[in-house]
Amino acid sequence: MNEEKVFAQVGEAGFTAMVKAFYKRVPEDDILGPMYPKDDMEGSEERLRDFLLMRIGGKTDYIEKRGHPRLRMRHAPFQINFRARDRWMKLMDEAMDEAGIDEEPKRELHKFFFEVADFLRNVPETEGRFKI
Ligand code: HEM
Repeated sequence: MNEEKVFAQVGEAGFTAMVKAFYKRVPEDDILGPMYPKDDMEGSEERLRDFLLMRIGGKTDYIEKRGHPRLRMRHAPFQINFRARDRWMKLMDEAMDEAGIDEEPKRELHKFFFEVADFLRNVPETEGRFKI
């Protein structure tokens, strides 16, 4: 991903709108809803937003507030199987559409999100993929 280009295309306002649209969907979601803290959805929204502004826009708020992201460690308490990964991606794709992200940066961000989401899977390969 060309971070500078994507950041220029999406802008801070675009990331803010995208993350807002994502978390709007989370509480109602049967897979993701139960994983997120109901009483701190605003905090979750801020953490993901700050992370993306850091990773793609080079802003430092996330590091100042949270330190190193350690994403695998921070996702360890949650069961992330194929279904959870794919649902996260679905909600984020919908969120990018709702936020009006253009096709080109959307494609780049989708690839990036998928790589991270897949890296965060932490339950055995077959779980959630096949109904046994
Ligand atoms: C694969 C499916 C995923 C699931 C089920 C999931 C679930 C969660 C949950 C339940 C939290 C805790 C909410 C909070 O208190 O902040 C969280 C935090 C977070 N997630 Fe995910 N996540 C997924 C994918 C991703 C991806 C793809 C990214 C980044 C591109 C990401 C970035 C983050 C960040 C930055 C935090 C906050 C970390 C912190 O500073 O504590 N997650 N995630």
